[in-house]
Amino acid sequence: MCLATIGLDGSPAARMVLLKGLQPEGLDFFTCLQSQKANQLSADPRACLDFWWSPLNRQVVVSGQVEPLRRKLVEKYFETRPRGSQIAATISRQSAPSPSRDDLEDRWQKMENQFEGEQIPCPDHWGGFRLVPERFEFWQGREDRLHDRFEFLPTEEAGLWDINRLDP
Ligand SMILES: Cc1cc2nc3c(=O)[nH]c(=O)nc-3n(C[C@H](O)[C@H](O)[C@H](O)COP(=O)(O)O)c2cc1C
Repeated sequence: MCLATIGLDGSPAARMVLLKGLQPEGLDFFTCLQSQKANQLSADPRACLDFWWSPLNRQVVVSGQVEPLRRKLVEKYFETRPRGSQIAATISRQSAPSPSRDDLEDRWQKMENQFEGEQIPCPDHWGGFRLVPERFEFWQGREDRLHDRFEFLPTEEAGLWDINRLDP
């Protein structure tokens, strides 16, 4: 999914992340807590997610505010990741300038040697966020550009949404 955030100077920013949890409370993704996106979300939790399924000609947009995922959940997910990815997540300071490919691979190898035969602990700088939806938009491509668009907005009653059809 594409995650859009608001930059520290108010400019937009977007990048792909993996949806790793879909709960009644929200949509979960994981990332480095020192990354550009994490810094932006700490300063302003408003965010927007965009999914696109080409074979279905379908788009879903979800906007709302993020909250940090509980540490227990982060650690549980980290344990399921391949060892190489765990090491990469640990040695990477995501979004910081990187001196060279060699330097990156050296850092990875050093850690691999250091932890030979041992489990890689979940680093403090790795975590995740849950986007709590405040608006959904479902878009279904149709012939002649007469696409269907439906906006879901929360009502005052928890769990109930107003549904509006939008022009394509
Ligand atoms: C298909 C795809 C999936 C990705 N999934 C993630 C992810 O789940 N978490 C993550 O931190 N970065 C993921 N990335 C990398 C991000 O797009 C991005 O490069 C990185 O998180 C740094 O973004 P930032 O500088 O805005 O923080 C993914 C990239 C692609 C292309």
